[in-house]
Amino acid sequence: MNTQSPIGVFDSGVGGLTVVKEIMRQLPGESMVYFGDTARVPYGSKSKKTVLKYSRQIVKFLQTKEVKAIVVACNTASALALPEIKQEIDIPIMGVVEPGAKMAAESTKTNNIGIIGTESTIKSGIYSKFLRNINPDITVVARACPLFVPLVEEGLLEDRITDDVIGRYLHELKEYGIDSLILGCTHYPLIRNAISRYMGPEVNLINPAYETAKSLKVMLTEQKLLNQSGEQAHYEYYVSDGVDKFRTFAAQVLPCDVEQTMVIDIESY
Ligand code: DGL
Repeated sequence: MNTQSPIGVFDSGVGGLTVVKEIMRQLPGESMVYFGDTARVPYGSKSKKTVLKYSRQIVKFLQTKEVKAIVVACNTASALALPEIKQEIDIPIMGVVEPGAKMAAESTKTNNIGIIGTESTIKSGIYSKFLRNINPDITVVARACPLFVPLVEEGLLEDRITDDVIGRYLHELKEYGIDSLILGCTHYPLIRNAISRYMGPEVNLINPAYETAKSLKVMLTEQKLLNQSGEQAHYEYYVSDGVDKFRTFAAQVLPCDVEQTMVIDIESY
């Protein structure tokens, strides 16, 4: 495998760009091919069977781009599809759940951790499983927040409606006295400021993107796949619908322009 090959990154929509941004920061030499499944978002209310089918199609597409490794930048797909897909392909693939759980377990002082995510991620219980594996004394309080994804996809990052929905979903969590809250959906870091305002400064918000990029670096180093050529990294973006909306959004999230964005027919993979 060529170390200069790109890393494939995917999500159901724009949320995975929060992971792309962190990879750009921690691994500036790595090129990336990003796919956002903007035609089929959200994944969070869909069954395991459907999310697995979608994820398999995306992995197939990314492999046509000769990626050297894949990052599943979607908690829902990491929870529902990653275990199977790991067995099916011969390049390294990692998700965001395990790194996020590790980061939360390391930073909590009270062992009371909150986790928010899509319905499917919360229902899967995967964060609790990883957290308790690391430390059986950890208590987890989980809450699905299904309206957060459409609010983010609509760009309502600082808006009264978003503040209202945050209050509605998180008031119970606030009473539990958690000291860490895992943003268990890659869309949520985009409304991090509003969530933090509501939860208060005593609650540490955990964004798994940071730890994911860190784990990716370790994985690439171990597998001797780190690009050390010194050449300028390049980025390609693909979506299944709505290029203009995606580009506008990406410009707000990423530190660089999203020049090349193309629509592909993901159903054909
Ligand atoms: N951003 C995704 C996640 O991390 C999924 C959001 C969705 O499609 O429902 O779970």
